[in-house]
Amino acid sequence: MSSEAAFEVIGWRDGHIIALDQTALPHDIRMLHLTTVGELVDAIGRLAIRGAPVLGAAGALGVALAARQAEQDGWDAARLDAAVKQIAEARPTAVNLRREAEAAAAVIPQGAAAVAAAALATVATTVAASHQMSERGARYLRERCGPAPLRVETHCNTGSLACLGWGTALGVIRALNNSEALAHVLVDETRPLLQGARLTCWELGQLAIEHYLLADAAGPFLISQGLVDAVVVGADRVAANGDVANKIGTYSLALAAQQARIPFVVVVPESTIDPATPDGGQITVERRAEDEVTHVLGVPAAPDGTRALNYAFDITPAALVTAIITESRVIEP
Ligand code: MRU
Repeated sequence: MSSEAAFEVIGWRDGHIIALDQTALPHDIRMLHLTTVGELVDAIGRLAIRGAPVLGAAGALGVALAARQAEQDGWDAARLDAAVKQIAEARPTAVNLRREAEAAAAVIPQGAAAVAAAALATVATTVAASHQMSERGARYLRERCGPAPLRVETHCNTGSLACLGWGTALGVIRALNNSEALAHVLVDETRPLLQGARLTCWELGQLAIEHYLLADAAGPFLISQGLVDAVVVGADRVAANGDVANKIGTYSLALAAQQARIPFVVVVPESTIDPATPDGGQITVERRAEDEVTHVLGVPAAPDGTRALNYAFDITPAALVTAIITESRVIEP
């Protein structure tokens, strides 16, 4: 992999969106060509396009697509507004999706080409921010944890696939590795959709970074055994009081990290911090289809008819967070 991702995660070609289908990884590299808002919303819903900053890019590009469809097919303002709303609400927890869709919608009066240009500027900003937060986060951990190479645990997928550029938490891991300050990475598999096993292990493999895959339930135990120096994760939304919404399973790592007195660090772009959400209790936690839990990669794992509760995210209280690191600052409670 070069200094950037060796693959295009999401982009704009000839008036439509192209995106790497993240449901097909790690076994297939398949590009999606999305020419309608309906196709984009479907791709977001089934997590072919996912990860908070990439959802932000998808929101902006989606509005560019809607504006183009409106010009070509003569949509009236109400139909275009409905399309923007459909994009903004395709998933509820990652604030980046709504924020970037609404920012792109503000450009609609200038025409579809201007919306596409604004969306591409959002993509470029996302990439630049990822490098800045990666370097800042690596510096913070080196200063806080000392000179020995670090054993870092991470959850879900927060690399190029989720964030463009280097990523957020995985970007910090990459920057640590570049400065020979990383021993290895402990990767939570991230049930039910296995973003850790399928996507993070794939990205770390491409980067030749040493890593070990863990069953999610093993994470807190390994922390308690002194086998982890720091937990580093991303987030889908940070409330104004510092509460953090991230992939289900994050909260138990934060509790274990506090008990073991190791840093629990959250790495996000500023656009993931939502001043309009006062605290974690106000964050809508996405609930997804039951069969994602009753099945593993499409294969039934529970008796027919078993009911499941599929909360896709959890909320980690600010009190458990050692630091939130963004492209422009370190926030310590
Ligand atoms: O459901 P997903 O795969 O979109 O969830 C992604 C995560 O929870 C990531 O940790 C989060 O978006 C942070 S990526 C910076």
